Amino acid sequence: MISFNKEQIYIVTGASSGIGEGTALLLNELGATVVGIARNEERLKAMRAKSKYPENMHLEIKDLTDDIEGLPKYVKELKNKYGKFSGMAYCAGISDVKPLQLLEYTEVDYMFKVNCFAPVFFCKGLLDRRNNIGKGTSVVAISSIVSKLNDKGMLAYSSTKAALTAAYRCMAAEVAQSGIRINTVSPSDIKTPMTMCFEAQSLREGREEKYPLGFGEIDDVANFAVFLLSDKTKWITRQDYIIDCGLV
Ligand SMILES: NC(=O)c1ccc[n+]([C@@H]2O[C@H](COP(=O)([O-])OP(=O)(O)OC[C@H]3O[C@@H](n4cnc5c(N)ncnc54)[C@H](OP(=O)(O)O)[C@@H]3O)[C@@H](O)[C@H]2O)c1
Repeated sequence: MISFNKEQIYIVTGASSGIGEGTALLLNELGATVVGIARNEERLKAMRAKSKYPENMHLEIKDLTDDIEGLPKYVKELKNKYGKFSGMAYCAGISDVKPLQLLEYTEVDYMFKVNCFAPVFFCKGLLDRRNNIGKGTSVVAISSIVSKLNDKGMLAYSSTKAALTAAYRCMAAEVAQSGIRINTVSPSDIKTPMTMCFEAQSLREGREEKYPLGFGEIDDVANFAVFLLSDKTKWITRQDYIIDCGLV
């Protein structure tokens, strides 16, 4: 049985929607204190309204791409406000499908900012030993199966997630001797606003049949992310876990 106590404080980015929301709610339900970060205040508040222990669910409104260089300083400010962190689930991210000839530099640049540079510089702040509890700290980032599939139309998304996975593995190697663990999770199609929105309708067509158990649910990823944050996985680090119902 996985459980946390309220002195264990976890950052969850992307807490206003989908996998981040599911992870924030589960951590809170299991007893941890959560600092949920996203841009949309209304959706963050709606998430907190669903939480089991709202008094242990703190909200921070932030565009994580606003000042990427300044993210380590921002994490320090959060530490001064809430206390040292036991870990983080970095779930904020964006996706898009676009063939090379339609792809603009600014779109690739922005996607790298959201999906790779911000998670790296945020984690840099968290890994500063003044901001975390040291041994037992655990970090998980949501990468994607596309980091390995490298399919048509996925150049930008696929590259940003491959870079994220590689960067987090490098960071995991740097901090392993301090007892800090870092892993990534690479899901395939999970039913979230990102994949179930109207704009993604044509992309969904014919895909669900590929999965013997249908599309994944938010809990399928959130449960695993929380498992990786818990001390039940205290000997697991520097791994990337595929959650894809056996597709790959
Ligand atoms: N759904 C899938 O099938 C799937 C599969 C593989 C990997 N993933 C990955 O899983 C993660 C979560 O995806 P999801 O499906 O849960 O998507 P989602 O429902 O669209 O949620 C994305 C979250 O990211 C936040 N976000 C986006 N840009 C941000 C920014 N600039 N600053 C701060 N927060 C930002 C959004 O919050 P605000 O809009 O409130 O800022 C939202 O909370 C992403 O990294 C995604 O790439 C998803």
